[in-house]
Amino acid sequence: MYFNNKKVNYKVVVNDAEDGSSEEGTISADQIKVTFSYIPEGEDMIKAIVGHQQNVVPEGKTIMDATDCKACHAIDVQVNGPSYMEIAEKYTKENRNYLIDRIKKGGSGVWGEPLMSAHPQLDIEEIGKMVDYILSLSPDEKVEEKLLPLSGTVRFKEHIKGDSGGKYVLMASYLDQGNAEVPNSALATSSQVIFKASKIEAEEADIKSEDVGNWSAGSAGLVGSIKHNSYIGFNNINLNGLKSISFSAFYIANYNYKGIMEIREGSPTGTVIGTTQLGYFHETKEGFMSYEIPVRPTADQESLRTQLTKSNLWPTPTG
Ligand code: HEC
Repeated sequence: MYFNNKKVNYKVVVNDAEDGSSEEGTISADQIKVTFSYIPEGEDMIKAIVGHQQNVVPEGKTIMDATDCKACHAIDVQVNGPSYMEIAEKYTKENRNYLIDRIKKGGSGVWGEPLMSAHPQLDIEEIGKMVDYILSLSPDEKVEEKLLPLSGTVRFKEHIKGDSGGKYVLMASYLDQGNAEVPNSALATSSQVIFKASKIEAEEADIKSEDVGNWSAGSAGLVGSIKHNSYIGFNNINLNGLKSISFSAFYIANYNYKGIMEIREGSPTGTVIGTTQLGYFHETKEGFMSYEIPVRPTADQESLRTQLTKSNLWPTPTG
């Protein structure tokens, strides 16, 4: 998870059976790409890959390599058909559908006499990915690479400007030397760490006990219908250094709420690492209350279950 303006130190180490190791200096730092990107809520992870193109094979290229395209096309030289770079220079994203159609139907006349075979067996989605890859080779599409050193510090501040949310991706990639006697034998590898927002919506719980459902109160989403022993759970949460969890509860009027909430590691019967009393009553007014629950994690990385027990916590919709 990330927190406003907090910093994280990182270090990237590459070891390769033939090439050596970045720590011993046999692999030089400029062969390893390291980036740190902020991906706003709802945006594609593809943004994190910018800068690693050489070391991360795009999906469209993988599909093209498995079909007949390479018999007539190459990236930067004309074969039977124009090079992909020439095509990328001539067209933009607006021509995407036109290009998909051309690849599907084949034909000639745009670049000269030679004929492109038709590809009726390929589906539109696959062809679309190939077209996206071809168009990404355009010089206009080149995004400035902002590479980081092998070790350093990153800071979480991009999300503060916008509507806090989204994730950060720290990514490292390496393209090895390959075998000098075998063409195209270089292997690429990449690794990434994803930092998620520290605010988690209860409705997005990975696990919910059967009685719990998603509800809304005004514009806010919440989980409701909580009964004795109801629980919700979140997978893969880093608990390292976690000291407390803030939690909000919404109560409707004229219902006598009483209960205990427990936070457990791993499972609904796992170790209790935090607990708090919940309760509310008002004849006419709804209540919205925040709780700061101190926790004592015993594991570094765990699933977290919030269990609501001994309670009369949430009336059923008719209650
Ligand atoms: C038999 C040879 C051949 C094969 C196989 C082939 N192409 Fe082509 N391709 C051509 C030729 C020749 C042209 C130029 C056609 C023209 O002038 O209209 C062309 C043109 C194109 C164009 C540009 C179309 C335009 O209107 O400007 C794209 C994009 C393209 N090919 C992609 C592909 C992809 C992707 C594949 C694999 C699925 C593929 N081609 C397979 C020969 C081929």
